[in-house]
Amino acid sequence: ALERTISIIKPDAVAKNVIGQIYARFEQAGLKIVAAKMKQLSRQEAEGFYAVHRERPFFNALVEFMVSGPVMIQVLEGENAVAKNRELMGATNPKDAAPGTIRADFADSIDANAVHGSDSLENAAIEIAYFFPQTDVYAR
Ligand code: CMP
Repeated sequence: ALERTISIIKPDAVAKNVIGQIYARFEQAGLKIVAAKMKQLSRQEAEGFYAVHRERPFFNALVEFMVSGPVMIQVLEGENAVAKNRELMGATNPKDAAPGTIRADFADSIDANAVHGSDSLENAAIEIAYFFPQTDVYAR
């Protein structure tokens, strides 16, 4: 089905200057960028975005990392966009990520792992609404 999902290029990948290389992978896979913005997250925004992880031992380090520099946030649209984006990203830990995936090629560690992607269609809707008013998402 035609789906939308959130992708966040994290501070490590923005600092590495690979936004364009990551965008090219989305486009080559048939995913369209229908909303995008670069943003320095506040601590409160990062904590709210990752609220489901609040009780996890890595939560503080995750928030610290996500506010360490600007991120690039985009909505991707396409057939099976949620799963397709997760395939392109590879496993959360770059050590486990398949060759040719974004994390295998650009991530350094499980914390600095280059990209975030929604893990389900339900969470995708929540995450899109968290960052983009409907008027900033362009059907195409
Ligand atoms: P992300 O997909 O953005 O979702 C939560 C993030 O927490 C994850 O990517 C990792 O960067 C980070 N993280 C750190 N340690 C872990 C862990 N043990 N399990 C899952 N995520 C972790």
